[in-house]
Amino acid sequence: MSIVKDAKQAMQGLVQGAMAKAIALAPDRWMPGGEPDTLIRHQHGHIGKPLSRIDGSLKVTGRARFAAEFRLDGMVYAALVHSTIAKGKIVRLDTANAEAATGVVAVMTHENGPRLKPPPVFMSAAKAAGGDNWPVMQNATVRWNGEPVAVVLAETQEQAEHAASLVTVQYDEGEALTSFAEAITKGTTPGEFMGGPLHDEKGDAEAALGAAATSIDSTYTTPRHNHNAIELHGVTVAWQGDTLRIHDASQLVAHTAWSIAQMFELNEEQVIVTSPFVGGGFGGKCLWQHQVLAAASSKFVGRPVRLVLSREGVYRVVGGRSLTEQRVALGAGADGKLAALIHSGITAKIDGNVMPEPFIMPTRSAYASKSLLLDVQTVELDMLANTFMRAPGEAVGTFALECAMDELAEKLGMDPIELRLLNEPDKDPSSGLPFSARHIDEAWRTGAEKFGWDRRKAAPRNRQDGEWLVGMGCATATYPYYRMPGGAARITLAADGTASIDIAAHEMGMGTATAQTQISAERLGLPLDAITFNYGDSTLPGVVLAGGSQQTAAIGASVIAAYRVLVKELLRLAGNDSPLAGLKPDEIASRDGGLCKFDEQEKFESYASILGRAQRSAICVEAVAPDPLETMHWSMHSHGAMFAEVRVNLVTCEVRVSRFLGSFDCGRIMNAKTAASQFRGGIIMGLGLALFEETQFDERKGRVMNPSLAEYHIPVHMDVPEIEVMWTDIPDPHTPMGARGVGEIGITGTAAAVANAVYNATGKRIRDLPITLDKLLPG
Ligand code: MOS
Repeated sequence: MSIVKDAKQAMQGLVQGAMAKAIALAPDRWMPGGEPDTLIRHQHGHIGKPLSRIDGSLKVTGRARFAAEFRLDGMVYAALVHSTIAKGKIVRLDTANAEAATGVVAVMTHENGPRLKPPPVFMSAAKAAGGDNWPVMQNATVRWNGEPVAVVLAETQEQAEHAASLVTVQYDEGEALTSFAEAITKGTTPGEFMGGPLHDEKGDAEAALGAAATSIDSTYTTPRHNHNAIELHGVTVAWQGDTLRIHDASQLVAHTAWSIAQMFELNEEQVIVTSPFVGGGFGGKCLWQHQVLAAASSKFVGRPVRLVLSREGVYRVVGGRSLTEQRVALGAGADGKLAALIHSGITAKIDGNVMPEPFIMPTRSAYASKSLLLDVQTVELDMLANTFMRAPGEAVGTFALECAMDELAEKLGMDPIELRLLNEPDKDPSSGLPFSARHIDEAWRTGAEKFGWDRRKAAPRNRQDGEWLVGMGCATATYPYYRMPGGAARITLAADGTASIDIAAHEMGMGTATAQTQISAERLGLPLDAITFNYGDSTLPGVVLAGGSQQTAAIGASVIAAYRVLVKELLRLAGNDSPLAGLKPDEIASRDGGLCKFDEQEKFESYASILGRAQRSAICVEAVAPDPLETMHWSMHSHGAMFAEVRVNLVTCEVRVSRFLGSFDCGRIMNAKTAASQFRGGIIMGLGLALFEETQFDERKGRVMNPSLAEYHIPVHMDVPEIEVMWTDIPDPHTPMGARGVGEIGITGTAAAVANAVYNATGKRIRDLPITLDKLLPG
């Protein structure tokens, strides 16, 4: 498939070996972040404060309008008909009964709908947003069980759904490959991710494993997962002449606008995607068929269209996390130092994307082992595209790796925290790069103390409380610092002392708008209420993905770039009559509504004074962030230490997590309240990964059998204990504001901490997620 090649080409500029080496060896000061962001030293007190969400009151009073809440004149409602086979051809589509039903305006199928180009699949181009590159309702071919085969448009949602049930489809069924095991017998293909192989080798790990004094060699399996953001995927679209307006629920508005423009053969500016509020994204709110079908059917009937996927529809149309089978083998000397670390395995994907679940990612920078063998193999199945889901790779990869560390610690008769600290690397074990900052030892120490780790009994099945066995477990959490190219920002500073920051970024509920308001206020030396942060609109500057836990860094670097231009312009306007005369932009900071000399803050002139003298009511600047070369110069990661206490019932074998603590090292924390919520939310999703979430995929038919929240279990309040979170708050000298990502790390390590606690409670190692009670029943 050529998309692999395309993705490679897109990344080529960044990952070419020679270039990577040059960037690794270049002086620090040449890198973005080579000089620490001045905000790390210069503080007004906005950063880190537990400011409540500025969009909070809009949300609790129902004034925040989500994508499916826009009511447009003449709007029709769409419902989808989904295929019931995994592979084959549509022979006959009978839409007559649907068309005759009350309220139905039209039925669109591959036979009558607009002609479209296939979606640009994510990572095949800078602004590609598609979950796959398969054509959307363009021909009779069926590629997965659940693929949309018709769109019914009616005056009400209920009429559309009823009529959709009247469409009948006859198929010529092909031979689908839907069994993971069967696919493996036919051979696997090496996995590639972001333009590079998912394979690392250092020394002869198999030989070292064989020669090691102590070793373990285990297989861990994780199931498929589906996205279940509480806000269903919904979209309201309207054509205004040749311009397509899309109210979307999106974590990548600029990417979506560009990608849809490619499909409809429009100029990028003709597609406007807005998404001011998103009810959860997690990697699932990207470009799937529903936005395209809404736009196409709106063109088809000449009226605005609202298309909201049902909960089942999300399972049929929006990809989720793929399943994995992982081997972790560890060999250690008598002193506990790792001599061999093997992490390899297989995952399933489709032939229309470049997304093998990259479960070895956390292992690359985890431990100082003398030898290393990391490898991901893939098979391709006839199924809905798999995709990104919170900490793709790390979420399930840390489950295998960190359970294995627990198994090795037990075999060595060593405390599992001690084993981890003993194997702390002093530089990145795979890339050899220095760490930008790594204080995981601090996270372990403070976390263990707060959690009361010393009360854990090392030998399993040693603590009982009535009919409950009690145990404790721990695991390392980790997620990379990313900053993707394409960030840009516009700052408009008015003489009245207010400023607006414009950037095509996203607020999916994580507190971006709030944290960015704080950061902008601090950088500009303005009060919080003087800042307006505009986002969620593809017409704003920047190509920013709310994903990879990188949005804060991407926005931060863009605002730094724009602020530099602003300072330069202001100094120019200030001229020779200013107390700032003769100062260079690098010597400048902001405070109290104006500029000052960084080290001599009484040298000051207010923005109002500078702009007034220049007879300007406002100044507007825009700049692009530098390419993220820092990530090739340093090994950059968020870190954490996770602690779980579980209770396992002797009679029913149900597992209850009674306490959980996450101790994080993610650089400087921007907002103590929203960051704590991100950590807790990640951990809750991790509890789901550990104990509940599992897509039941019928391997005979390729159909998801539990497409509802009644049958696909996620944690509810009763399943979630009080979760304590804490952090080192040590700034990373090489990132904007000293911050690293906090969005995804919470889900990493959590499942391993729970599984290790279950072992400590019961003496049973469960290596197959989720840890449901049947796996703990005796016998
Ligand atoms: Mo996240 S899976 O990068 O939205």
